[in-house]
Amino acid sequence: MHNWVRPVQEAQWYLTAELTNSFFIGEVDGKRMSSISFVNHGKSIGFASSYYVDKAFRGMGYGKEMIQSVYSDDIVSKYSLYGYSIPSLQEFYNKTLRLKPCWSSRRFKLQIPTLTEKLSAETAPANGHEILPVSQANLEQLMVYSANMVGSSQTSRRLLMAMVSHTLRSSWIAIDGNNEINGFLIMHKTTSFPEGGYLIRPFFADNAPIAQSLLKTAVEYAAQDCDSFISLDVPLLNNECVSLMDELRGESVDDRVFMGSRGVPQRALDKMYGLANLDSI
Ligand SMILES: CC(C)(COP(=O)(O)OP(=O)(O)OC[C@H]1O[C@@H](n2cnc3c(N)ncnc32)[C@H](O)[C@@H]1OP(=O)(O)O)[C@@H](O)C(=O)NCCC(=O)NCCS
Repeated sequence: MHNWVRPVQEAQWYLTAELTNSFFIGEVDGKRMSSISFVNHGKSIGFASSYYVDKAFRGMGYGKEMIQSVYSDDIVSKYSLYGYSIPSLQEFYNKTLRLKPCWSSRRFKLQIPTLTEKLSAETAPANGHEILPVSQANLEQLMVYSANMVGSSQTSRRLLMAMVSHTLRSSWIAIDGNNEINGFLIMHKTTSFPEGGYLIRPFFADNAPIAQSLLKTAVEYAAQDCDSFISLDVPLLNNECVSLMDELRGESVDDRVFMGSRGVPQRALDKMYGLANLDSI
């Protein structure tokens, strides 16, 4: 839909997570030309995304009309709203939804041959950690671990479970000697696979060595059927992750600004090596 590559199973997650009634489509003369979503996280928290108008209809007021019809004054005043913005739309979101910038993320593109070469030196997982397929994870423990990064709302939990259930072969966890989870990565094919490569989302790790071990496992898997690239969205406040992107010769694609109407949510950005689904707060 946008210029960004999207996960091929995205619609299925929303079906599995029973969130399809959070999505709205705009039509002109029976032709679908726009979309927007309002995903609820409880009764007073909402997430705005999938904001799109077909090129032929842009600049004619349809986008604004769509925002105003889904986000009534009542919703804007009662809800804590969140969303990701392209840098140029921040002012518009501030005017319409009262959103203010919280932090920025950058999409990086990592070439699979370069990753294979750079990560091959790493022979064993960091500090006795083990990387396991997500099918071997204790799912409740996985939800508790992920809550530091994406909150613990039923919506975030359902979305994560839906993503895991559709990507069992390309999702991994890192565990320590006590079987505690300290890293988690999900990798998806994109809608333009294989040219569009794989997308990693989400990617959580307690530190950079654990992140590298998870990434190495993902790259070995990806290299079996794809030689293009892997992309992921990195919170720029996570310095370790930004340095890792540099080391791995990540190419910057573009930026997003995470915005909120009632302050910055408490999240462990230092453990976020790749953002979760954009509808998780
Ligand atoms: C963003 C988008 C949905 C707006 O739809 P639209 O129908 O063109 O918007 P409207 O004509 O109703 O204009 C709404 C407002 O947004 C502003 N605007 C629209 N596109 C903009 C852009 N790329 N940069 C800055 N401002 C923009 C308009 O100036 C207008 O502001 P105003 O009310 O202060 O005059 C549409 O341009 C689009 O689909 N873009 C590609 C996908 C995208 O970037 N989505 C947003 C992701 S955060």
